[in-house]
Amino acid sequence: MRRVVCPGSFDPVTNGHLDVITRAANLLDEVVVAVFQNSSKTPLFTVEERVELLRAATSKISNVRVDKFDGLTVDYCRANDITAIVKGLRAVTDFDYEMQMAQMNYNQAGVETLFVVTNPLWAFLSSSLVKDFAKFGGDVSGLVPPIVLERLKERLSEA
Ligand code: PNS
Repeated sequence: MRRVVCPGSFDPVTNGHLDVITRAANLLDEVVVAVFQNSSKTPLFTVEERVELLRAATSKISNVRVDKFDGLTVDYCRANDITAIVKGLRAVTDFDYEMQMAQMNYNQAGVETLFVVTNPLWAFLSSSLVKDFAKFGGDVSGLVPPIVLERLKERLSEA
């Protein structure tokens, strides 16, 4: 069983994340999308909300499961019989840090990292940019799943 994890903050999930998750799911037996809880960033959505949005957005992909975790990704891998981490690479700007993390994770725990090169359609996309644009009235409807768009509007109108 080739089970991998796609870890991230997913605050919120974007079409770029979904591209990476879908392509990983086409190659591997099971993809666990794991939402990192203990980020130093202050999230717009709670971890439960992020999990719910990911579940809704991936509901049609039968070999994707959504979970949450804190602590080290490699410890989550050990505890869940996962041999590799899947990450998306948008541009060279992602590369340095992702490579360091991949080497650290292999050095410390023998956990491999597989990189999916992001579809150029989504190369510019990040959750932070989506939130910034949405906050100031920008139209992000083509960048996130419909359920995320709805929740973003609700959340930002509360602020
Ligand atoms: O979506 P993000 O915020 O870019 O995701 C970052 C994430 C969660 C993948 C990264 O911070 C991470 O792996 N955190 C878990 C803690 C950990 O394992 N740190 C050591 C990495 S070498």
